[in-house]
Amino acid sequence: MPYEDKLISELETLKTSFTNTVEKIEKDIRRKDKIMQRSDERQQKEYDTLQDKLEEVKTLNKEIIDNQREAVFQMGVIGETRSKETANHVIRVAEYSHILALAYGLDEEEAETLRQASPLHDIGKVGIPDAILNKPGHFNDEEREIMNAHAKMGYDMFINLSGPIYQAAAHVSHEHHEKYDGSGYPRGLKGEDIHIYGRITAVADVFDALGSDRVYKKAWDDERIFELFKKERGKHFDAKLIDLFFENLDKFKTVRDKFKDEYKENGGH
Ligand SMILES: [Fe+2]
Ligand SMILES: [Fe+2]
Repeated sequence: MPYEDKLISELETLKTSFTNTVEKIEKDIRRKDKIMQRSDERQQKEYDTLQDKLEEVKTLNKEIIDNQREAVFQMGVIGETRSKETANHVIRVAEYSHILALAYGLDEEEAETLRQASPLHDIGKVGIPDAILNKPGHFNDEEREIMNAHAKMGYDMFINLSGPIYQAAAHVSHEHHEKYDGSGYPRGLKGEDIHIYGRITAVADVFDALGSDRVYKKAWDDERIFELFKKERGKHFDAKLIDLFFENLDKFKTVRDKFKDEYKENGGH
């Protein structure tokens, strides 16, 4: 039956062609899979490389910040050593400033910047002669003027360096002897014209200085310090900061106990 034969033959042909097509499609799919797999692998590799680089950048960045922090801390120690302060004084002033900054409402980043910059307030003293720095007793007018120049000297050291810590250090140096009522130096700034970093450092530094032995005086007891703070509230110091000081007294005392100066036989200088 030629007709049936023809039909079978056609069916065979169709079947073959169908099988071929299916095979081709399967092959295509396999190839595409492979290509996709390869490109996936390549993308994964690129992604991994990027991740590695990112980690590297993060590490480097952290190193830079750590180095800057370490350099800044050592500068603070140098500045304070010039005026016969201890490394612990540097740490305490840093911590007190941090407490006040947070209590005042500055954000954590700013408070951290100030924590690192505030111990640099006296770095300008590297430029003051020993004979004046270490003089026991009172200064005459000329000596006082030379001594007071340390504020501007510190400012000049930092103001042209970029980076928030250095900029903060410039303000702290320049303004830590300004007084809220305008009677301070070097510029006689008043109230909130004094940078908040300067106002905070003033409280932190004076609190610590009064509570420690110095070349020219013995440490004051707490009652005497608190009395002075109350008297100078709104005069030497920003009233709000003095209130915050008393509200956070426990924290201040904790820091003071934790970073006590070691007893020295020569009287603590
Ligand atoms: Fe100072
Ligand atoms: Fe100081």
